[in-house]
Amino acid sequence: MPPLIEENELLDGPIEGLSIEEQIQFLKGDEFFNDDIFTIEKGLGPIFNAISCVSCHAGDGKGHPFVGFTRFGQPDTLGNRFLHLGGHQLQNKAIPGFQPEQLPPGATFTNLVAPAVTGLGFLDAVSDADLIALSDPNDADGDGISGRPHWKNIPAYVQLRPNSITLNERYITRFGKKAAVYDLLEQTSLAYNQDIGITSVFEPLDPYSGLSTGREVSTKTIHDVVFYLKTLKAPLRRNEDDLDVLAGGRIFAQINCTSCHLPTMKTGYSPIELLSNKEFHPYTDLLLHDMGPELDDGYTEGKALTSEWRTPPLWGLGLSKDSQGGSYFLLHDGRATSIEDAILLHGGEARQSATSYQQLSETEKQQLIKFLESL
Ligand code: HEC
Ligand code: HEC
Repeated sequence: MPPLIEENELLDGPIEGLSIEEQIQFLKGDEFFNDDIFTIEKGLGPIFNAISCVSCHAGDGKGHPFVGFTRFGQPDTLGNRFLHLGGHQLQNKAIPGFQPEQLPPGATFTNLVAPAVTGLGFLDAVSDADLIALSDPNDADGDGISGRPHWKNIPAYVQLRPNSITLNERYITRFGKKAAVYDLLEQTSLAYNQDIGITSVFEPLDPYSGLSTGREVSTKTIHDVVFYLKTLKAPLRRNEDDLDVLAGGRIFAQINCTSCHLPTMKTGYSPIELLSNKEFHPYTDLLLHDMGPELDDGYTEGKALTSEWRTPPLWGLGLSKDSQGGSYFLLHDGRATSIEDAILLHGGEARQSATSYQQLSETEKQQLIKFLESL
């Protein structure tokens, strides 16, 4: 019997070539990520956003805005003013006997939709030196586009990647929509802590009481989940030889979408051999870009500006509807319900690209969209 869903329409699944031991660790991580449901007995909350990773990252794909969350309280690069009132994440659920958090008056906020978690091992293994080489903080080449890495303080527990570069005791962080997280260990530990209310050796403080509540998730589990995230395959392309798709790909480059959504990157050294020195096609540069007033929610993290967002990878874009209930919810908060809407909302450094899009013929626009759907 033919499979009901084609392999290239599925996000879940490891990169090819894992050893048996690695496959076992992948499956353990998969189980924790996709099947582990937290209950009060297992340490859930007392305040939280959801009861498992999969609640928000269904099928490893993008989430519906309904299962995202709100962050609040940091209006500039000087830090969060609302830490004493529950900042920076709004845990909007609570176990019986506790009150969910409410947005404090006067706090600026942003809503975030869960991104797909595929191919992250490749993004993780790009060297800092490559990101610096891609950046152009003062727009020296005068093309109006000036991406920069996010230089930020990092927790002591992260494992520095090989040849990590530091500047004034800050490091280049790259995960999350504001690129405020250093690596997948930090991202996973924070997700357990902030999203589910689960403490670990890495993030031991309960978000409600601020007290150390022991290890509600084991260090081994966290490492298994990190391994799973690192070895989830990158989304596979569909219809890539279609003539419209090919034409759309050329238009994507002509109107300069590629300055930020970089088609090809390469990894540096990775302790996971299969991720070492590999070319891959994420359509991101992992840098922060000023996207103008329309996408500026007045909330930020670390040293990013409120108008700055990390270029999201576009791989898997055409599959995002599958995990978002049949419609697109694009951009950081899901406000764009079509690919065209997402392009038209590009401002700031990307304004010229959006304008060039508007000047395309109807046929060219459709070719570009078909190309984006094939990613
Ligand atoms: C309540 C919904 C929710 C839950 C539960 C949740 N996430 Fe997320 N996840 C998000 C959102 C929203 C973001 C974007 C956050 C940001 O940009 O800082 C995100 C971001 C991520 C990223 C960063 C991806 C990237 O491209 O930078 C990873 C990895 C991740 N989550 C893993 C996990 C893991 C592992 C768990 C379970 C321990 C988990 N998440 C639980 C909503 C959720
Ligand atoms: C200056 C850098 C830059 C340029 C140029 C640029 N983008 Fe983007 N793009 C971004 C950033 C940053 C975001 C995320 C903004 C947000 O989340 O609010 C984004 C988001 C998107 C999204 C939504 C992705 C998602 O997962 O939600 C699509 C689709 C997209 N861009 C397509 C394009 C196309 C097509 C072009 C060329 C017409 C283009 N972009 C040009 C930086 C850029």
